[in-house]
Amino acid sequence: MLSKNIEKALNDQIKIEAESSQIYLAMACWAEVKGLEGVAGFMYDQSNEERDHMLKLIKFVNERGGHAQISELAAPNVTFTSFKEMFEKLFDHEVFVSNSINELVHISLQEKDYATHNFLQWYVSEQIEEEAMARTILDKINLIGDDKGGLYLFDRDIQQISISTASTENPQ
Ligand code: FEO
Repeated sequence: MLSKNIEKALNDQIKIEAESSQIYLAMACWAEVKGLEGVAGFMYDQSNEERDHMLKLIKFVNERGGHAQISELAAPNVTFTSFKEMFEKLFDHEVFVSNSINELVHISLQEKDYATHNFLQWYVSEQIEEEAMARTILDKINLIGDDKGGLYLFDRDIQQISISTASTENPQ
C-alpha cells in the first residue's frame, strides 16, 4: 500500500512523463515541418517512450492501492531557433527528469517503501541511457556545425543512434 506522500510524489512524476511526451511531440512537429524527417521520426519515438514511462507509473500506482491522477499539462515550447537548440532543450529536460527520479528514490527510502524503491530502479537505469543518448547526439551536432551535408547525414542516421544506444540497455 502506498503512503499518501509516495502516492503524491508518483502522481507528480506521472505528470512530468506526460509533459515530456508532449514536449517531444512538439519537437517532432517542428522537425517535420522543417523537412528533417529522420529527426522527426526520432522525436515521435521519444514521445511514445515517454507515454510508456507514464503508463508504467499509472499501472504501478493503481496496483499498489493508490489512484493515478491524469492532470492538466503545461503547453510545450513549439518553436526553436535551430535543431541544435532543440536537442540542447531535450538534454536539459532529461537532466530535469533524472533529478526528479532521484528525488522520488530519496522519498521512497525516507518512507521505507522498498517496493516503490525497487520499481524506481528501472527509471534510474532508463535516465542514464536517455542522458547518454542526448549527450551523444549533442556531440555529433557540435561536430557538424553549420555543414549542410553533415546535417543531411545526421538526419538520415539519427534513428541509428537511438537504436544502437537502446541495444546497450539492460534487458528488463
Ligand atoms: Fe521519461 Fe525521458 O524520461
